Amino acid sequence: MKPIIFAGLLLAVPAYGAPIAMEDQSQLQSPAAHPAVARFQPPQESELPDNAYGKMVRQGYALFVDTKRLAPQYVGNGLNCSNCHLDQGRLANSAPLWAAYPMYPAYRKKNDKVNTFAERLQGCFQFSMNGGLPPAADSPEITALSVYAYWLAGKAPLGVELPGRGYPDVAQPANGYNVAHGAEVYNAQCATCHGAEGQGQKVGDSFVMPPLWGKDSYNWGAGMHRINTAASFIKHNMPLGQAGSLSDQQAWDVAAYVNSHERPQDPRLVEGSIEKTRQKFHANDGVNLYGQTVNGVLIGQGIR
Ligand code: HEC
Ligand code: HEC
Repeated sequence: MKPIIFAGLLLAVPAYGAPIAMEDQSQLQSPAAHPAVARFQPPQESELPDNAYGKMVRQGYALFVDTKRLAPQYVGNGLNCSNCHLDQGRLANSAPLWAAYPMYPAYRKKNDKVNTFAERLQGCFQFSMNGGLPPAADSPEITALSVYAYWLAGKAPLGVELPGRGYPDVAQPANGYNVAHGAEVYNAQCATCHGAEGQGQKVGDSFVMPPLWGKDSYNWGAGMHRINTAASFIKHNMPLGQAGSLSDQQAWDVAAYVNSHERPQDPRLVEGSIEKTRQKFHANDGVNLYGQTVNGVLIGQGIR
């Protein structure tokens, strides 16, 4: 199967439209419509300068889309950053980098401190990439990824939440979620690409379809292990090419099915105890199944 490449050009609209004629400039007085906020578009590769900065942007881009191959020492699973931040970190509602960069430093409940952008990247290495000790804040990897994000953010305003940031919340349906119904959605709409066992698909050593559970997936500490976060990602981004086609109920059900399967252990495991880890890190972390028993099986045992 050919890897699917996003047609980034189809989404490309110039950031600031055509120049406005002199006689029209009075219209710029209105403070309400700030074009950068209303419809932010990251720059195109063709706009990159041919200098040391442009070279660093390209390195960051390469690391973002080919993380496993270019930074194997920091990736403990089969994923690349762009598997969850689609279209090279450009796609709105897919936690795009251009919306993230201007929002840091920021307090995060997850580690109860103010995080720099570098620390935020380290978090995705540690949990989403199951990478063990993440690259240092001043490492070439974090520098290149930060420069790439800075470039994508372009003229975005600092500290302003842009539309399209993150994976917009999909509220839990009134009747909750149903893992068995999720299995039906999965088998009908996801398994062709992600595999009957959530194992993804490989060509040679590389995944062309990313795994959703098992040893090559994100670990139990990753944001995607929350059913609410996975439901939001899935609703806005999956099935690939048909984003938005699932009902909220289907998105929640299939997210619960995916996240009821084993994956690598939470690296923050407290004294080897799933229950202590659940109490400390999962009891107040959205909706998740870590440390709970489903159909007689304890979830969160981890897998290598
Ligand atoms: C398994 C999916 C997954 C992978 C792989 C992944 N991330 Fe993330 N990332 C997430 C989730 C989930 C969030 C939290 C989004 C939210 O809170 O809405 C996130 C958040 C972020 C944010 C902050 C977004 C914001 O708006 O504050 C950045 C920056 C980021 N990731 C960068 C990376 C980088 C760099 C990599 C690769 C080293 C990576 N991610 C790999 C799932 C992933
Ligand atoms: C046409 C193939 C295809 C279908 C169908 C599909 N996906 Fe995906 N999915 C992908 C690809 C490819 C990516 C990675 C995107 C990228 O790298 O640009 C992905 C990424 C993901 C991710 C984040 C990365 C990871 O491995 O954790 C999740 C979660 C996910 N899909 C869930 C689903 C669910 C649930 C369904 C069914 C409702 C589904 N997908 C249907 C191809 C597909």
